[in-house]
Amino acid sequence: MTQDAIPALPDYNDSALDQAFAALAKQATDEAAAIGSPDDLEAFRLRWVGRKQGRLNDVSARWLKAAPSEAKKSVGERFKSLKELIEGLLDKAAGTGPSHAALAAEAIDITLPGTRHLTGAEHPITRTLNEIVSVFAALGYSVGIGPEVETDFYNFESMNFPPGHPARDTQDTLVIASQERRPLRDRLLLRTHTSPVQMRTMEQQPPPIRIVIPGKVHRNDAMDATHSPIFHQVEGLCVDTNITFSDLKGTLDHAMKALFGSSVKTRFFPSFFPFTEPSADVQISCIFCGGKGCRKCKHSGWIELLGCGMVDPAVFAFAQEKQPAYDPKKISGFAFGMGVERIAMMKYGISEIGQLYAGDMRFLNQFA
Ligand code: PHE
Repeated sequence: MTQDAIPALPDYNDSALDQAFAALAKQATDEAAAIGSPDDLEAFRLRWVGRKQGRLNDVSARWLKAAPSEAKKSVGERFKSLKELIEGLLDKAAGTGPSHAALAAEAIDITLPGTRHLTGAEHPITRTLNEIVSVFAALGYSVGIGPEVETDFYNFESMNFPPGHPARDTQDTLVIASQERRPLRDRLLLRTHTSPVQMRTMEQQPPPIRIVIPGKVHRNDAMDATHSPIFHQVEGLCVDTNITFSDLKGTLDHAMKALFGSSVKTRFFPSFFPFTEPSADVQISCIFCGGKGCRKCKHSGWIELLGCGMVDPAVFAFAQEKQPAYDPKKISGFAFGMGVERIAMMKYGISEIGQLYAGDMRFLNQFA
């Protein structure tokens, strides 16, 4: 601002003084009127009454102190009223706060809707997994977990898939590279099922065992409407004296009724798994048509849901290497494994497995 410097007064007569002080008063009044923010107010305060560079200081130095003694009084009076004017302007600006325009810019419109904080919800896979686990927890089962990167020994060999056994091909998976120098049983792969945790659990503790093991598994399966190369399972293992196939049937019949409703029926169909003997596939009466036959159950009235069987003595033999109490002559047990996605899809009528992984909020919000 060019008018910043306070010029020396050309004359000290009354009209010259009046003119000079009136000009400053007008300047200060105009500037005060333009104050629109706390920053403006501070700038105004520094400019006029700042201790070092304030204009009033300059006026005092150049006009008042420099005045000839006979003019001191009239300059002093005018200086005093200018000072009061400026202090008044400052008080007024501070008291009334920022200008209306500044306020409007910063104002919060309390009639607008607030910022919505989304409440998280369980993903349908997590929800189903927890539901399955709690059905078994209510029966006295504990919950275990195991590693997703597993050794060939736990995933295959100890589950009675000997090296080169054709059943391995049905559960082809990703293997970790550059392990050729390791013995086959130590080589790492992504587990194809949660069954290896059966062995890990038995190695850790003697019978009796009742445990469910949820987790992620990997298979060389092409993605289609009902398959995914990565999915979730819940494994179950029960070992004690005198565990029979009836216990297996009763347990899984109860679990299916707890998950799908008490009117659901179960049937056990002969099957094969290397680690159970005998083995069965559990089918439930079609929850869509009640068993009459529809497109969903391929007009059979039944839907296949999980695998199970009595623990094969060969599996107990592997467990006995660490825990001699797993003597197949003294104890027996059953195991089962179910796909979480498959159960979630049945429960919620989801027809594409991919929707469970797509992260599309329009889909997921239905479960919130
Ligand atoms: N592990 C089997 C699978 O993934 C399922 C299963 C578990 C079958 C336990 C029998 C007993 O297909």
